[in-house]
Amino acid sequence: MRRLAALCLALALLAPRAGAADDSAALQDFARESRGLVKAFVGELQGALRGAIDEGGPVHAIGVCKAEAPDIARAVPPSPAWTLGRTSHKLRNPDNAPDAWETAVLEDFQARAAAGDALKGMERVELVETGEGQVLRYMKAIPVGEVCLTCHGGKLEPGLAAEIARLYPQDQATGFAAGQFRGAFTITKTTAD
Ligand code: HEC
Repeated sequence: MRRLAALCLALALLAPRAGAADDSAALQDFARESRGLVKAFVGELQGALRGAIDEGGPVHAIGVCKAEAPDIARAVPPSPAWTLGRTSHKLRNPDNAPDAWETAVLEDFQARAAAGDALKGMERVELVETGEGQVLRYMKAIPVGEVCLTCHGGKLEPGLAAEIARLYPQDQATGFAAGQFRGAFTITKTTAD
């Protein structure tokens, strides 16, 4: 009897641990895949941006960025289970607004950056319970680089500023300096497939 009780106890203790180990392996795989997707996304986006700037200057690139960034974000993920995008505490396009989970992570990244943590490699990976089941979520901090300042810096060329104001009347994404926290890549994967 006592042995049975001990066995039951052992099983009860083991069960959640085994589950947790599965979860953490799945999270690690997901994080690895997510990093790959971010890399592909950055590559495609930078290529499109650079091409557009070379072709018609930064004002032209704004339109290309607006039209192509969401298309690239849709084309990069391997299956419809994935969604990929960018979000920020200071938005240019309100379509990129963070949800509650993303808002909390953005705040955490900001606090960590303010405390002196490096933005490079700053990320969060989590299995989140929702009304429709579990989803895997990933975010990675985006620092402002020199090339970003043309369109997100403190002094925008007047023609560019006018075009941004026309396309994004609620724009908050200017006034950044190189090295500052710009926002984050965000990835969601439903666990159904
Ligand atoms: C040619 C101008 C231009 C340059 C250069 C540029 N951006 Fe942007 N950025 C934009 C536009 C336009 C949008 C809005 C895109 C959209 O409509 O989804 C945007 C949106 C974003 C967003 C999405 C969140 C939001 O505010 O809507 C992030 C993050 C971002 N940019 C970061 C960067 C970083 C980092 C760089 C430098 C590596 C950079 N950008 C360079 C024009 C630019």
